[in-house]
Amino acid sequence: MIEIIINGRTLVAKEGQTILGAARENKIKIPHLCFHPALKPSGSCKLCGVEVKSPSGRQVVMLSCILKAKENLEIKTESALVSAHREKAFNTLLQMAPESTRIRNLAKEFGVAVTPPPNGCIRCRLCIRVCNEIVKARALKMVKTPEGSFVAAGEGDCIGCGTCANLCPTNTIKINDQDSVRTISIKGQIIGQLPLEWCEGCGKMYATTNFLKHVAESTLNHPDTKEHHHLCSSCIKLMSNRASTEREHLRK
Ligand code: SF4
Ligand code: FES
Repeated sequence: MIEIIINGRTLVAKEGQTILGAARENKIKIPHLCFHPALKPSGSCKLCGVEVKSPSGRQVVMLSCILKAKENLEIKTESALVSAHREKAFNTLLQMAPESTRIRNLAKEFGVAVTPPPNGCIRCRLCIRVCNEIVKARALKMVKTPEGSFVAAGEGDCIGCGTCANLCPTNTIKINDQDSVRTISIKGQIIGQLPLEWCEGCGKMYATTNFLKHVAESTLNHPDTKEHHHLCSSCIKLMSNRASTEREHLRK
């Protein structure tokens, strides 16, 4: 039998036993994923790092699934050195398996800060900025959660203009026009659901009622179109071109 000291507590370990094995027997928690009691250790996941004194006298992190118990070996399972090692190891694993809830839950259990799970959004905030600065609907905002920051519905009402979706570089914001209703959503969360208007020229659904109201209130009427028109951009262009040609003819 060998005496080792884990976190200041003297424990007895068997000859040839690993530090992880001794810690597990004594209910001392060390995170690990690649260890299996029936298999030889591989040291792959790097999660089980503990702090020990190296032969040169320096404090270093060593893998407890590989490190064998030695008489009077002093081990720390919690220290600044161990925390930094764990954070790096967890984040390296999450780069390979970003959706793994097992790794995320284990990191949470040991209080390790890890990168938020990917949801397609790169947090460029283009959608929020355009909605605030240009459209002025304030329909989007960044929400902080323990899992990271996400774009969510803001304080203002979405007018269904679709500018956010058009600017989004990762196509995370979706527009779905169906049964005369436009739905704007981010990863399943509905930001706005608004009725659509039909173009009087070509008959296609082209803009939401709220967006047209917003445009009417914030811009001047085009001289070549009716005051209260319902025309899509293609039909407006067509009308505008026709009006200019007619004006040209009259001038000649
Ligand atoms: S949803 Fe798109 S536009 Fe908005 S922050 Fe994320 S990536 Fe950028
Ligand atoms: S348990 Fe994976 S490296 Fe030790």
